[in-house]
Amino acid sequence: MEKKSALDINNLKLIFHHISDLVFLIRVVDLQHYEIEAINEGYLGNYQTTKEDISGKRIEEFLGVDQGIKAIRRFQEAIIRRETLQFEEAYTFPEQGYRMFDITLVPIIEGNTVANLIGTAKDITEKRINEEQLVQSEKLSVVGQLAAGIAHELKNPLTSLKGFLKLIDFENKNPDIERYIKVMDTEFTRIEQIIEEFLVLAKPNKINFCHHRIDDIIEEVIELLNAQANMESIVLTTEYPDTLPQVYCESNQLKQVFINIIKNAIEASDDGGNITISINTSGEHIQVSIRDHGEGISKEDINKLGSPFYTTKKHGTGLGLAICKRIIEKHKGQLVIDSSIGHGTEITVILPINFT
Ligand SMILES: Nc1ncnc2c1ncn2[C@@H]1O[C@H](COP(=O)(O)OP(=O)(O)OP(=O)(O)O)[C@@H](O)[C@H]1O
Ligand SMILES: [Mg+2]
Repeated sequence: MEKKSALDINNLKLIFHHISDLVFLIRVVDLQHYEIEAINEGYLGNYQTTKEDISGKRIEEFLGVDQGIKAIRRFQEAIIRRETLQFEEAYTFPEQGYRMFDITLVPIIEGNTVANLIGTAKDITEKRINEEQLVQSEKLSVVGQLAAGIAHELKNPLTSLKGFLKLIDFENKNPDIERYIKVMDTEFTRIEQIIEEFLVLAKPNKINFCHHRIDDIIEEVIELLNAQANMESIVLTTEYPDTLPQVYCESNQLKQVFINIIKNAIEASDDGGNITISINTSGEHIQVSIRDHGEGISKEDINKLGSPFYTTKKHGTGLGLAICKRIIEKHKGQLVIDSSIGHGTEITVILPINFT
């Protein structure tokens, strides 16, 4: 009996339709016109459509005019060069939004013409995001090393400067000089704060994870920041449910997170503004949202937030949110930023209640 070929038509169909990458066959009508002849089902779910809808469709009907033209340029390049083309390109779909693909296009040459193109497109969006996160964490570790060095170098001279300033203050009787001493003291304290912020980035000091109530932590933070808020007539309002679970966390670090976020909200708000701090639980997570009605952040700038040294403030160091991100990562949580220009900003910290 004749042995059945391993690659009979059914097997080929099975392979074709179950490959998770996008595989497609394009019919070249002429250099300007291309039709989709076949496309595998493995990826079809992404397009809210069925194979029948797509077959015979022009590429612009499938991808939209602008993206269709972008694809046609690539098809033309493969045809003219008569060689396999490999490139990375982003496309946007109604359901999936922005996706980045690694695409290979193979021109099928019959006689003297290219009658078809076979394409494969691998979705590499997540891979790219992960790579970017890696770059980001490498940046942070460089900042960490830098911080340790700078803190070490600066702390000693700063201590002697502060000591001598105290001595001058003690001996001084002149009220003018008294004013200068006050300014110098404030500035020294600011330098010390910056060094401390650097140190949190370099290595979180004493880590002591325990069960705490988030509302207690928030109350302490509000107590700390109320003076600053009051000076600008900004009201800090809280909204908590009656019962809240305890969260396994490093309370000093979480305090630092909420201080940085609420400070940003105060700095973004106009005099007389209102900032709402609300806590909600959902399933295994607790969410703390800080909402302000300040200037807001544009879509482009949201992506820059949390990069060390990114700041739009004259006296900002741009470390506030970078520190928050790092601490929240250590708690296996997430930082979600929702903002639009003119409408204000909502920053949500999502923490697992019982992470170990
Ligand atoms: N609630 C907010 N509303 C508007 N813009 C904000 C808000 N929070 C953060 N930003 C923007 O993000 C930038 C980075 O914030 P981040 O806290 O990291 O640094 P910073 O506040 O500038 O400096 P600092 O190190 O003193 O905190 C800010 O400069 C600001 O442009
Ligand atoms: Mg800040």
